[in-house]
Amino acid sequence: MTQPIKGFSKLSKEDKITWIAENYTSDARKTSEILRQYWNDDKQLQQLHDEFIENTISNYYLPFGIAPNFLINNKLYAIPMAIEESSVVAAASKAAKFWLDRGGFKTKILGTQKIGQVHFFYTGDSKKLTAFFKKTKASFFDESKPLTKKMETRGGGISSIELRNMTQKLPNYYQLHCTFETQDAMGANFINSCLEQFATTLEEKATIEGLISEGDSLEVVMSILSNYVPNCLVRAEVSCPISELDLHKDVSPEKSAEKMVQAVAIANAEPHRAVTHNKGIMNGVDAVILATGNDFRAVEAGVHAFAAKTGSYNSLTEASIENGVFKFWIEIPLALGTVGGLTSLHPMVHLAHEILQNPSAKELMQIVAVAGLAQNFAALSSLVTTGIQEGHMKMHLLNILNQMKATNDEKLTLVSYFKDNTATHSAVVEALDKLRENL
Ligand code: MEV
Repeated sequence: MTQPIKGFSKLSKEDKITWIAENYTSDARKTSEILRQYWNDDKQLQQLHDEFIENTISNYYLPFGIAPNFLINNKLYAIPMAIEESSVVAAASKAAKFWLDRGGFKTKILGTQKIGQVHFFYTGDSKKLTAFFKKTKASFFDESKPLTKKMETRGGGISSIELRNMTQKLPNYYQLHCTFETQDAMGANFINSCLEQFATTLEEKATIEGLISEGDSLEVVMSILSNYVPNCLVRAEVSCPISELDLHKDVSPEKSAEKMVQAVAIANAEPHRAVTHNKGIMNGVDAVILATGNDFRAVEAGVHAFAAKTGSYNSLTEASIENGVFKFWIEIPLALGTVGGLTSLHPMVHLAHEILQNPSAKELMQIVAVAGLAQNFAALSSLVTTGIQEGHMKMHLLNILNQMKATNDEKLTLVSYFKDNTATHSAVVEALDKLRENL
């Protein structure tokens, strides 16, 4: 059995590779070869990637694609997407093209507020704590001035600090619930630094002001931003006369509109469907977030909590038919940054921002919301007309052919063949076998 290793992080990259290859893979030479194959020839660039995380042994590629023709508030964007799922960029491009001819996407920022909390336990009288907080509140702002000064010059900073009594949920549990504006930064470091300063101020002032005399105690458990940001919200919308909703030649626009609305209603009525419905939205959202160097785990966590804010898990999109107009929209919480983090560090991220014309965080929120809405529109359009597999399998075709080590000529022949034939896994295998037999 492989033994645990001490000091792995201190080994050289070469030694890490040797260790992992020899202890966890069947062919150490092959493992080392694969890992090295993905190193960048540019040593400086490779070092940059090595230093993003600990224990880097290689790079992990994702395709970086472009979905062009997104008309958003009358400005034309080509949206970069980093994603492995074959149909996502194609679906986004198709939806972009569809709405380009129908007035494009309209978006609006509904809020940019970020949240952070200092969680603490206090065993004394809550009235005493309230009075203490009232008296000392200004010092929380004052003592974090060195941290907030720069952000304030950019128009951001601490918006509010509120004492919340949470003892109904957990005995002795209170929090400082704080809100922030962080402008073009995602703001995680700024918020967490402010919160840690609030925690210090809280504990120090509690001692100085005699809050914890007479056997009462106050203890901070942790200080951390929240990824649930329901007031950092953006709306994106498309609409057109129903007669223009010609999704498929065999389905009338009226029927398409009705089924699109029903598809959203089903997601709102049924969490199993809602999760898949929203997963499709996140295909678009995550791909742009990754390409632009933002934190997709934070966004995912916050988005799904938002989808469940009523107590049941709902669709993030809505659809309506009113006075002959089909309307389709999304409201989605997105805490994003266009400065700091990877944005200036990672050359591909930098390029993604340039392709988007160096958007502000607010503009990026709008672009990402549009990518999510477009993705959902494309998915539902297929689901309520042809079914999803027709498009999916066409896009997946190259993956199957690559798995079967098809040559470029074979790929060309079969991609052309499957333009008019249904591509299932077995149909592709059969067609390739036939092609090879006939050679
Ligand atoms: C697949 O990645 C996404 C879909 O399942 C989304 C949906 O069902 O709405 C097609």
